[in-house]
Amino acid sequence: MSVELINVTKRFRSPEGEVSSVVAVDNVSLVIEEGEMVTLLGPSGCGKTTTLRIVAGFEMPDSGKVVIGGHDVTDMPPNKRNTAMVFQSYAIFPHLTVFENVAFGLRIRKLPQAEIEEKVGRMLGLVGLTEMARRSPDQLSGGQQQRVALARAIVNEPDVLLFDEPLSNLDAKLREQMRSEIRRIQQGLGITSLYVTHDQAEAMALSDRIVIMNEGRIAQVGSPKDIYDTPTDRFVAEFVGRANFLPAKLTGCSGDLATLDVMGRTINIDRAKVAGKPASSIELVVRPETVRLWRSSEADPSMARFAGKVRRALYMGSVAEYDVEVDGTMLLSVVTSPAEHGIFGIDEEVSVGFPMAVVHPLCS
Ligand SMILES: Nc1ncnc2c1ncn2[C@@H]1O[C@H](COP(=O)(O)OP(=O)(O)OP(=O)(O)O)[C@@H](O)[C@H]1O
Ligand SMILES: [Mg+2]
Repeated sequence: MSVELINVTKRFRSPEGEVSSVVAVDNVSLVIEEGEMVTLLGPSGCGKTTTLRIVAGFEMPDSGKVVIGGHDVTDMPPNKRNTAMVFQSYAIFPHLTVFENVAFGLRIRKLPQAEIEEKVGRMLGLVGLTEMARRSPDQLSGGQQQRVALARAIVNEPDVLLFDEPLSNLDAKLREQMRSEIRRIQQGLGITSLYVTHDQAEAMALSDRIVIMNEGRIAQVGSPKDIYDTPTDRFVAEFVGRANFLPAKLTGCSGDLATLDVMGRTINIDRAKVAGKPASSIELVVRPETVRLWRSSEADPSMARFAGKVRRALYMGSVAEYDVEVDGTMLLSVVTSPAEHGIFGIDEEVSVGFPMAVVHPLCS
């Protein structure tokens, strides 16, 4: 089922008892299509959990509407909404076996024993815990406990699955493994999901679309590729991945090309990228992994190239990171592959550049 938030706002009175209140969610409108996995991504305190809790019905919005499957559920209690939530703390019952934890909701609904066994068996198979059905939670690893929580959430066949940072208690390796499993299971079941995280890699790996939140508002909504390649502002560009920001001036347009002056160099970009934007000032977003270093400076018309000097060099095997000084002031972050492009040393004079096609202008 689809989920729709329409102009949802939620304020909290500040806990210190001051008159002022915190706007946790500020006029948020968003549609999650049936079967879609959408992630709310943003820094601590930007309103992700509050938005999720409003969908679940644990918080009431001050204004705005929540619509699930075409029905206005704004005034409906949580247990009538047919959503299920998976938390960071697994919230599984310590005194029940794995099987009984997953069976819990089905027993409340008084399903026949045979049906319970069939459903729980299928869920445990899905999350890879068939062998552990008789164990108690204290005999499970963190990742296995999180699988129990997931199985328990989906066994009741909710219309909407809500996740609040479910993997943040797991170590890095397990987190990566679990995020692809969550994605596999979500896609397999085709279940509409809203996932909250402040981990950008997790959001990129999991989502059909990402919603970037900042101070209660939506900063951008788009596919992982949209968000990464064409961030709408500096906040998004900095929050997702790393970015160089190069000041630029629009000096002219001809045909399909816009001509920019960047640190004394002329570069041409697709005119559509600056069309319709008031361009009193332009910053170019250049991702560090699109920048390359050369020892020689032979011209290449597709590249914007500058003379630079390596100021910091960090070799990490599969990649090397550099800070390269350009123009005496600007430091460019560079991430390159030593296998492909070699290794450069501190204080080395280099030619540094990036394909003109990859720059993304922010106009303000
Ligand atoms: N029950 C509450 N009472 C008062 N203020 C609250 C309450 N719940 C949340 N807030 C405030 O609302 C804002 C948003 O909180 P929220 O928990 O939604 O953030 P979040 O994006 O989930 O952050 P995190 O990544 O740290 O979990 C914060 O400023 C928070 O302090
Ligand atoms: Mg939160």
